[in-house]
Amino acid sequence: MSEERADRLAGVLAAPKPETVIDIGCGWGELLLRVLEAAPQARGTGLDRHGPDMERARDNAAKRGLAERVTFVQGEAKEHLSAADLVISSGAYQVFGSIPEALQALRPLVNPGGRLLFACEIWERTPTAEELAQMWPGTTLETCLYLADVVDEAVAAGFRPLRIEMATTDEWDWFESGYAASSEEWLLANDDHPEADAVRAELDAHRTRWLRGTREVMGYAYLLLGVPAQV
Ligand SMILES: C[S@@+](CC[C@H](N)C(=O)[O-])C[C@H]1O[C@@H](n2cnc3c(N)ncnc32)[C@H](O)[C@@H]1O
Repeated sequence: MSEERADRLAGVLAAPKPETVIDIGCGWGELLLRVLEAAPQARGTGLDRHGPDMERARDNAAKRGLAERVTFVQGEAKEHLSAADLVISSGAYQVFGSIPEALQALRPLVNPGGRLLFACEIWERTPTAEELAQMWPGTTLETCLYLADVVDEAVAAGFRPLRIEMATTDEWDWFESGYAASSEEWLLANDDHPEADAVRAELDAHRTRWLRGTREVMGYAYLLLGVPAQV
């Protein structure tokens, strides 16, 4: 996600003045922290099972003066769920199974009148068999839905779509090359290191998955979803 999108989304998510925010599968919690900065009345909870991300999230919260308003809980997200005015699920629908299962499970977690930011991979177009074969092992046509189908699933789960947007190819390229960049730098400086061959092989595999598999085929959608104010 670009800086510009992150700040804009944080502003949009903060605008209804949520009191409570939960980010399920929050990674290192960057979006949650930005929302809390934009919503000074809000308290937040971030859930993730990856310990190093939780430590980084707590460090960042402390550096930005947010430690008193946010709790990061390490563990299986389903064991720590609670309802909130704003629920975030970005790149983490797998916590609940499939995308339709996630949307159904997330609906009761959104307080009346509240919002869900749901972000997930989608097919921008149908991948060819050759492209599918270059993606992660086990990727099939069923791995993603098309944008219209994700939105239909959200509506079927009881949400109304307030905003629908897609990551741009530039954002994807920045994300994918950024993922590799520090390892590529390390490789240039450590070509004779005993682990260099393994690092090079992983970087080459990553680049193939991206440039021959997912690029301009798999997209990333951001859905801002609302629920009725009446119970
Ligand atoms: C693709 S990352 C997305 C992180 C962040 N939400 C973002 O948009 O950048 C998915 C995150 O979900 C977490 N996750 C996946 N399944 C989980 C589970 N069952 N319980 C807790 N965390 C989970 C992973 O550890 C990972 O940090």
